[in-house]
Amino acid sequence: MTNERGDWRRKDRVIGYGRQTIEAVDREAVASVLKSDWLTQGPGVPEFEAALCHATGAEHAIALSSGTAALHLALLALDIGPGDRVVTSANTFLASATSALMCGAEAEFVDIDPRDGNLDVALLEQRLETGPPVAAVVAVYFAGAACDLAALLVLKQRFGFRLVIDACHALGGTTSLDGEARRVGELTGVDAVTLSFHPVKHVTTGEGGAILCADQKLAERTRRLREHGLCRGGADRPFADSSTTPPWFASASELGFNYRLNDLQAALGTSQLERLDSFVAARKRIAARYNAELVGCEKPAQSPGHAWHLYVVHVESESRDERMAWLREGGIGTQLHYYPVPLQPLFRDAPHADADPERTFAKAVAHARGAISLPIYPSLSDEDVERVIAAFADWAN
Ligand SMILES: Cc1ncc(COP(=O)(O)O)c(C=O)c1O
Repeated sequence: MTNERGDWRRKDRVIGYGRQTIEAVDREAVASVLKSDWLTQGPGVPEFEAALCHATGAEHAIALSSGTAALHLALLALDIGPGDRVVTSANTFLASATSALMCGAEAEFVDIDPRDGNLDVALLEQRLETGPPVAAVVAVYFAGAACDLAALLVLKQRFGFRLVIDACHALGGTTSLDGEARRVGELTGVDAVTLSFHPVKHVTTGEGGAILCADQKLAERTRRLREHGLCRGGADRPFADSSTTPPWFASASELGFNYRLNDLQAALGTSQLERLDSFVAARKRIAARYNAELVGCEKPAQSPGHAWHLYVVHVESESRDERMAWLREGGIGTQLHYYPVPLQPLFRDAPHADADPERTFAKAVAHARGAISLPIYPSLSDEDVERVIAAFADWAN
């Protein structure tokens, strides 16, 4: 169907809700690694880590094979383990919770504040006051909107938990703290911040992630855990009768993993990071256009430091699935972020699970029933933004 904006349907070109932006400089950066001596464990990773520190203001950046690996190692290096409880938002990607299970800890959830889709800090406070001790909180910046960090830091001080910010949606955004707009590496008082470089994120390495932190010991430990727990250049000796530590020797004193990012990925990441500001600016322009011109849906709340990883609207829950299918038929791909994690069988059917998660997490459920993530990424053309706006106008008519 057409309306005054024209026909928005395109069978020949389906757009997704997110997509990488790869240009000639990125291809050249990766090609030059292919011609070099190092495909992995070379100079590319420290270079990427330095670029991450520069872009985010972080003291230390540890590049890893995924955002999931970053969450796992952040919790592990903060000594989260069996018997511990980790609380996160009901509205997030699975890994914000499964990373606790990977450490042998239990995951718990709190419901969301529907205004921004982030965990409701008042509900977290209630949980901390009334339930067993919480070892860590993983606070997610949903869609790119910062949590109420000042309030979280007050709770951290009062209850003594570790605080990890899952900023996988928020690279390039800022948080208001002590009257300043802080980048994701400048969140004083937070133990660790995690990032993902999946292709739909602000910058990509294909697959990849990172931990940002201020504590040198934490940085050193996560670097060891990233590489099998191996320590090079330490004081350990290889044999009982060794008088020195030879250069070939590395000692493993705790269980680690292979969570390395390789040099091809790191080169792509470094090249992409140079355009982070323009990528975020492009996302902001698209969000501003949707805010001004979309009809027939509830639009997301605005906040000054929003990184606009996702643009999530809400429609009537009864017609949501039909509307997503209708958009899809016209060549506009959308997605749901997120089906509430505590409703996943992994958590719903676990021992000590909440007896009625649909009621306990009613706001995350209401969000999931009506939410649609619309296309937003730097290379989305004005014409395609126009198509999305026209499709909503068409539905509303
Ligand atoms: C909020 C959040 N946390 C963690 C992750 C995990 O990141 P990755 O896919 O790089 O493992 C994602 C990725 O989608 C995410 O959106």
